Amino acid sequence: MAERPSRAREAFFGRLKGPRLRPGQAALLAEALPGLRLDLSEPAPADLAPLFGVPVRAVRLEIGFGGGEHLHAEAARRPEVGFIGIEPFVNGMAKLLARLAEQPLANLRLFDDDAVRVLDWLPDASLEEIDLLYPDPWPKRRHWKRRFVGEGNLDRFARVLAPGGRFCFASDIDTYVDWTLQHCARHPAFDWTARRPADWTEPFADWPGTRYEAKALREGRPPAYLTFLRR
Ligand SMILES: C[S@@+](CC[C@H](N)C(=O)[O-])C[C@H]1O[C@@H](n2cnc3c(N)ncnc32)[C@H](O)[C@@H]1O
Repeated sequence: MAERPSRAREAFFGRLKGPRLRPGQAALLAEALPGLRLDLSEPAPADLAPLFGVPVRAVRLEIGFGGGEHLHAEAARRPEVGFIGIEPFVNGMAKLLARLAEQPLANLRLFDDDAVRVLDWLPDASLEEIDLLYPDPWPKRRHWKRRFVGEGNLDRFARVLAPGGRFCFASDIDTYVDWTLQHCARHPAFDWTARRPADWTEPFADWPGTRYEAKALREGRPPAYLTFLRR
């Protein structure tokens, strides 16, 4: 039987639903998502490549893809890489599925619940990159412990990233950028790659942008782009 979203979510504190879905969006969720969704009730294959409909040389993960603009652009640009996208917010998933209906991609698999569940399912050293782009900022100090970056999730990233793999983080919230730098500096598995300011003030290579980034730029909050290498 297909996996259903769990009630016990470790790292998801956001909204699952927004405005009511249009009938076309609801139909996509019912009809297109099951064929693309990872089935966590089965153990993960030791080699992830067969999960995809085409041969892939490596696998990347995007956590909290929002409307999927970045995920779709990256997967379209790199057909030789398999992409796993995770987004529990139903309206975001519906947006990506609508985009996929117009431009289908064989190198993409999806999951619509807490990313922690996928991280704990993936085999060791199975990913070449994890993207965490504009994660929910939880700006109030009493909510900082809800942030996706923390010791536990960095341990998960360290386990599933292959040596030399990348953890790419972007945010427009200064306290979250500092928080991530501090947590990664304390973690034995990660090295920050920056050598000069442009390495964190300029976007990642071939950067298509994201919806939240566009909002941050409109509102005058310059983002930071951090790349960490798995030792
Ligand atoms: C601020 S939005 C950014 C969306 C997108 N990355 C962008 O830049 O436009 C953060 C997203 O992370 C998702 N999210 C929050 N916690 C998550 C978790 N534990 N697992 C997967 N996604 C999560 C939220 O549903 C939300 O869509």
